[in-house]
Amino acid sequence: MYLTKNEKKMLDGEEGYAVKKSMEILVALGNIYGADRLVEIGSVQVAGVSYHNLGDAGLEFLNELAKDGKVKVLTTLNPAGMDLEDWRNLGIDPEFARKQNLVIEAFSKMGILISCTCTPYLIGNLPRYGEHIAWSESSAVTFANSVIGAKTNREGGPSALAAAFVGKTPCYGLHLDENRVPDTHVEVKADLSKFSDWGALGYCIGKTVQNKIPYITGIDVVSLDELKSFCASVVTFGSKPLFYMKDITPTSEKHQPPKEKITIEDNDIKKAYEAINDDTEDVDFVCIGCPHASIKEIAKIADLLKGRKIVAGTELWVATSRPMKQLADKRGYTEVIEKAGGKFACDTCMAVAPLKGRFRTVATTSAKGCYYSRHNLMMTKMGSLEECIEAGVTGKWR
Ligand code: F3S
Repeated sequence: MYLTKNEKKMLDGEEGYAVKKSMEILVALGNIYGADRLVEIGSVQVAGVSYHNLGDAGLEFLNELAKDGKVKVLTTLNPAGMDLEDWRNLGIDPEFARKQNLVIEAFSKMGILISCTCTPYLIGNLPRYGEHIAWSESSAVTFANSVIGAKTNREGGPSALAAAFVGKTPCYGLHLDENRVPDTHVEVKADLSKFSDWGALGYCIGKTVQNKIPYITGIDVVSLDELKSFCASVVTFGSKPLFYMKDITPTSEKHQPPKEKITIEDNDIKKAYEAINDDTEDVDFVCIGCPHASIKEIAKIADLLKGRKIVAGTELWVATSRPMKQLADKRGYTEVIEKAGGKFACDTCMAVAPLKGRFRTVATTSAKGCYYSRHNLMMTKMGSLEECIEAGVTGKWR
């Protein structure tokens, strides 16, 4: 891979340990994937923030880098293992909280914005169309590539961090236009009438196309919240963090529907629900906000919970970013949700919080949330926001 004079100096250690290590990571990646150069990036989003996933070895690695490492571009974080302010309210163990705070301290020393969210594009880390970025969280990467039209590979935590210290990333994969051409036509004939249908659609398409780039037709109207849910699902069950939706996502008009074609019908959506939903009625955990809830979603949750109470034995969490919670505080949504017995889980989420063994069954609007909850040994129920709130109020899935 070609390196400029300045990049060579960084690799030789002239800018210190963190930059040297970062250049080593980026050069190794570039050589593996055949990049011919590094490309400047506008922002970074780093995953691998939860102490639950990092452990002591990860914390040590971060502390080493934090000794002299400072990020060169706007950098934000993926959800951590707990609400950084209100972790006690979520039943987090104090020792876990201590370690998680050390992780956050290390990131903070590096100059990273401590905004732990998988929806960075809702809170100020918003790339422009065509901009090169280095993001890690798969749902955000898919949103950035597909809905915004920015360009990023699905970075691992270390490679995203390395890109942040250097301000550049190897130019390969989805940074190159020739690798962003759709190769499977997906015609959607199914009726998508409720919010969770978008997670089910992502399940169907992801499972079918796997590593191909779908060009989706048959969708006339879709909201931003539906798109963010779809992004999370399609990349979780498939693997390519890019799709086109005709007349909805950028540059879709420049491409022709590929020859290879699949069709998604009502029966496919029904089968997706059957695969995602376990055979159980009792619900002891409801989690909304995967990806992190927008202010519109929080408003709807407050509306549905007004004057009601979460049943004893069931917890309801609203996972969101801290800035979104601050808007909810100001608008009075927080008060309504908390009065009903719901809890906010800022900075964290159902996949990265240490939840194994705490709940038996989760109800959520998110297909991705169900996928990761099964890793946390929970049974899963996916449905509309109304169905999830009802489960929170009654403890039953109907
Ligand atoms: Fe975000 Fe966690 Fe879901 S990172 S996409 S809320 S699993």
